[in-house]
Amino acid sequence: MYLYAVFFIILLVRQSSALKYLFVPENDEFFNDCSKQPDNALNINGIFDMSNFTIMQKDDVIQMSGNITVIWQIHPGDRIQMSFQLFRFDRIGWVQTPYSMTVFNICPILYDEPQYWYKYWTKNIINKEDVKDKCFYSGTQLIHKPFELNLVFELTGLPLNGRYKSIVTVQAFSTKNVKRETSICVEVEGHFERLN
Ligand SMILES: *[C@@H]1O[C@H](CO)[C@@H](O)[C@H](O)[C@H]1NC(C)=O
Ligand SMILES: *[C@@H]1O[C@H](CO)[C@@H](O)[C@H](O)[C@H]1NC(C)=O
Repeated sequence: MYLYAVFFIILLVRQSSALKYLFVPENDEFFNDCSKQPDNALNINGIFDMSNFTIMQKDDVIQMSGNITVIWQIHPGDRIQMSFQLFRFDRIGWVQTPYSMTVFNICPILYDEPQYWYKYWTKNIINKEDVKDKCFYSGTQLIHKPFELNLVFELTGLPLNGRYKSIVTVQAFSTKNVKRETSICVEVEGHFERLN
């Protein structure tokens, strides 16, 4: 009985303190170059050929469709590490927030249902059965059905107000854990709208 009661209270607390947000990007093309591009870092066009992919923003809704082809020159089997860091604009500059995440190897979980990026993006790749073992290796073509990018987050903690940007970095490592010459750095700037 006691355990149930505790469980119930935890559930209530969690539900009441989680805030739901929609991230609304600033840039119609969604991805920006990094403002402090690290050495040998490429932008979005260094990882994907997006010439057959369209991004359209209508009101707060981002519509995406078409196909992208990976052109990043790394080796099949490389471990691909991805990290996200959220920054907030505070009066004169960007300040890091506690929201950050590093994924040691994205390849095995790129198409995993519980992951955020699956919900937002990779579930819309219609040839996922053919490409799920190919990760971001050069030549892989990702065929999308048209979809709306609906970046809804549930977060606890301080409310999010103002301008934010997320810096996404992608690095590849050989099986001997040597970092490849080039990496990827992109920024996405926008603001959060409270949904509840
Ligand atoms: C874009 O689509 C055209 C026509 O289907 C195709 O020939 C071309 O290879 C595609 N380019 C990429 C980068 O996927
Ligand atoms: C994407 O690829 C599919 C399958 O090859 C093709 O039918 C479709 O026309 C392509 N879309 C674009 C925008 O290139």
